[in-house]
Amino acid sequence: MAKYIGVLTAGGDSPGLNAALRALGKSAQISFSMQLVGFKDGFRGLMENRSVDLDLNELSGILTMGGTILGTSRDKPYSMPVGNKTRDMTDVIVSNYQKHNLDVLVCIGGGGTHKSAYHLMQNGVNVVTLPKTIDNDIPLTDISLGFDTALGIASEAIDRLHSTAHSHHRIIVVEIMGHNVGWLTLGSGLAGGADVILIPEIPYEIESVVEAIRQRRRRGKNFSIVVVAEGAVSKNDAAQFEAGQSATKSKKARDKENGKLTNIKVNGQAQKLMGLRSGNTLHLARRLEELTGLESRVTILGHLQRGGTPSSADRILAARLGTACAHLIKKSRYGCMVAARGDATTPVELQKVVGKTKFVPLDHPWLQSARLLGINLGD
Ligand code: F6P
Repeated sequence: MAKYIGVLTAGGDSPGLNAALRALGKSAQISFSMQLVGFKDGFRGLMENRSVDLDLNELSGILTMGGTILGTSRDKPYSMPVGNKTRDMTDVIVSNYQKHNLDVLVCIGGGGTHKSAYHLMQNGVNVVTLPKTIDNDIPLTDISLGFDTALGIASEAIDRLHSTAHSHHRIIVVEIMGHNVGWLTLGSGLAGGADVILIPEIPYEIESVVEAIRQRRRRGKNFSIVVVAEGAVSKNDAAQFEAGQSATKSKKARDKENGKLTNIKVNGQAQKLMGLRSGNTLHLARRLEELTGLESRVTILGHLQRGGTPSSADRILAARLGTACAHLIKKSRYGCMVAARGDATTPVELQKVVGKTKFVPLDHPWLQSARLLGINLGD
């Protein structure tokens, strides 16, 4: 009996999603005589039973398209906004999975998607996942879909920002996406010739950054490119936030003991810092201008880094992951993520991935190269 595959894309969109849908669907139909149905807008579409048959026609012409033809959302099966409430819709999702007579559900997404897929697996759904996020923070895979394209976009943006920096003798502060990790910032900072690279893994001391900019001035370079991850924080803020977090943790524990399921209100300091985090980059730029006397300007790349056609590397990654996924399904190998390993792929048990984050190791070769190039890392 031909296998029937359900697929959804969830979490932030990224280049390469459509290339992955195409690779999965074409190889499933052409090489393994299996069928594919897509669900709209992530797990929400499966809950609302909104689907589209992904036959060869539907998959034609999407290789180079950005975003996802299925749509996406960050809605989770166990915590889904329905009307004005947030409800556990797991049973509805499992029931729809069964009504469609699916053999497996393929979930393409990042950390949150893997958590949701694992939750459905624990409720009897066969799942296989593909790692997708421009953050590249999914463990046990060399790389995730979208990262290479975002790296190219951010690197090119940094290249272009050099023009204003040296023409106006300015500090240009560029904020890069990446959620809580620094892969995209470190990679694009290296590729784009940044003078300062600030990542979440290394809480920075502003004095170190100021001294690096002053040293450049003494060498006759009265401009600097500072590339900062959206999740980067100063040492001082990190310490205060830790304190705030620990206070929050103990409050969360206390509330749990008392059976209170209220939303945890972070304490004033942590809340301020969380708010500050969104304005961190502006705060940093202002402080650098005050302390160096050089004008500073801020560019926040934001969702530009997720836009447009996938790079060749992401298209090849999509072909590798999508076809390997179809092959695993043909062999009824479920409960795993299709991980990129060297030129090959390998199935990794979902429970080894869920709830974990791949941070930049402090001894990573990219960091070593940055230091040898004299790039300031804020420490
Ligand atoms: O996870 C990918 C990502 O782009 C992060 O880098 C960023 O912090 C987040 O998504 C933005 O989320 P949204 O698209 O929901 O604003």
